[in-house]
Amino acid sequence: MDPRYSIRWAAEHGFPRLGFLALRAMGDPFARLMSGDEGYDDPYSLIDQLRGDGGVQVTKIGYAAFSYEMCREVLRDRRFGVRVPIDPSVPFLLRRYAERVVVPPNPIEAPSMFAVDPPEHGRLRKPVASAFTPRAVARLGDRVREVTTELLDAMAARESVDLMADFAAQVPIAIIAEIMGIPAADRPLFLSWGSKVAPLLDVGISWRTHHRAMAATEALRDHIAAHIEKLRREPGDDIFSDLVSTGDLNTIELMASANVLMGAGFETTMNLLGNAVPLLLSHPDQLDLLRAEPERWPGAIEELLRYDPSIQMTARRVLEPVQFDGGIPLEPGKSVIVSLAGANRDPVKFPDPHRFDVTRPNAKEHLSFGTGVHACIGASLTRLEVLHALPALFERFPDIRLDGEPTRRRLSTLRGYAHMPARLKSR
Ligand code: HEM
Repeated sequence: MDPRYSIRWAAEHGFPRLGFLALRAMGDPFARLMSGDEGYDDPYSLIDQLRGDGGVQVTKIGYAAFSYEMCREVLRDRRFGVRVPIDPSVPFLLRRYAERVVVPPNPIEAPSMFAVDPPEHGRLRKPVASAFTPRAVARLGDRVREVTTELLDAMAARESVDLMADFAAQVPIAIIAEIMGIPAADRPLFLSWGSKVAPLLDVGISWRTHHRAMAATEALRDHIAAHIEKLRREPGDDIFSDLVSTGDLNTIELMASANVLMGAGFETTMNLLGNAVPLLLSHPDQLDLLRAEPERWPGAIEELLRYDPSIQMTARRVLEPVQFDGGIPLEPGKSVIVSLAGANRDPVKFPDPHRFDVTRPNAKEHLSFGTGVHACIGASLTRLEVLHALPALFERFPDIRLDGEPTRRRLSTLRGYAHMPARLKSR
C-alpha cells in the first residue's frame, strides 16, 4: 500500500483528532458530538445544546448548522460547494503535500458525484439518476419481496439471530448487487469492504482505521475495475450494465459511481432498517397502531427517517463570502458541518421533536436524504426496500424481541448498529 496515505491521514484525521481530544477533555459539546462515545450513543441531546439561535454556529472546530432552515439553506445555496478543505489549522506544508497524495476512487473524492460541484456534477449525476427513476425502481419491487421472503424463511429455522448480519444488511446488499450486476457470491466481500470504508466519512479517525479503509478501497478499486471490464464484454440486464454501455462516463467516473452506489446503496439502508427495530419495539403503542392500520407504514418510515437518520451530517465549503440575515459573515474556504439530525429534531419545524410519532403529519419533510442538487438518488429505492422489509419482519415474527443490548457502531456520520441479537419466537 502507498506509504503516502499516512500523510493524508495526518492532515485529514491526525491533526483534527488531537484537537477533538483536547476539546473533549474541556467538555466542548461539538467535539463530544464529532468523536467519542457520547456522540455515538446519544447525539441528540448534544445537538440541542449546539443549535443556538438557529443560525450558522461558530464552534471551536468550525462553522456548523443545526437548525432546519439553516441546514436546508446551506444545502440549496450555490455559494456552498462540496469539496471540503483540509482544516486550515493543519500546518501549511503538510496540507499542501497531503492534497497531492492520490488515493483510490472512493465515495467521498472526485470524480464521485458526492464531491463535485455544478456544472460538472450534473454531467456525472444525470446518467446515474436517470437509471434510478421511480418507474425503474418500482420494477425492483418483486425482487425485494422475494429476497425478504427468502431471508425471513432462513431466519425462521433459527431461534436467535443477529438482526444486523442476518436481516438489515442482507436486503439492501442483495438489491444493490443486482442493480450493479454483481454475483451473489461476492456480496460478503462488499459487506466487509463497506464496513471498512464507512469510517472515512468521519473526521479524526485513528491511523489503524484509516489504514484499513485505504486497504479496502484498493481492493474495491481492483474488483470494480475488473467488473466494469467484464460488463463491457458481456453486459447483463442490470442497471449498471446500461450505465456502462451508454459511454456517458469514462472508466474512472464509472468506478467512482459504482463506489458511491455500492456504499450509499447498502450502508445507509442497512442502518435505517437496523435503527428501526429497537425504536419500534420500544414504542409498542406505535407498533400496535401499525399492526392495526398497516396503511400507516409509509408515514412510519418517514418518521423513522426523521427520528434517527442513518446519515447524521454532511459538510459544505464556503465558496464566496456569505452573510445570512442576522448571521455572522462566513469566510470563503472554510467548511460548514450540516447536521441533518439537528434539522430533523428542530422544534421550530417538528413540534415535540423527540417524540417518535408514526402519525406525525410533516415527517416527510425531514432532511435525511439531503436536499438541493446533491439530494439522494436512492430515496425511492430505500423507501421501497424498507416498506417491504420492515412490515414483513414484524408480521412474520410477531413475538420478536431483542436479546440484550444491540451494539452501536463507533461512527458519528453514519448511525447504526454493528450487532443486534434477537429472539424470534416467544418461549
Ligand atoms: C436510508 C437510506 C439513505 C439515506 C439516509 C441517504 C442519504 C443521502 C444523503 C443525505 C445524501 C446527500 C449528501 C449531501 O448532500 O452531502 C445522499 C446522496 C446520495 N445518495 Fe443516498 N441515502 C440513502 C440511500 C441511498 C441508496 C439506496 C442509494 C443508491 C442506490 C443512494 C445513492 C445516493 C447517491 C448516488 C447520492 C449522491 C447524489 C449527488 O451527489 O448528487 N442513497 N444520500
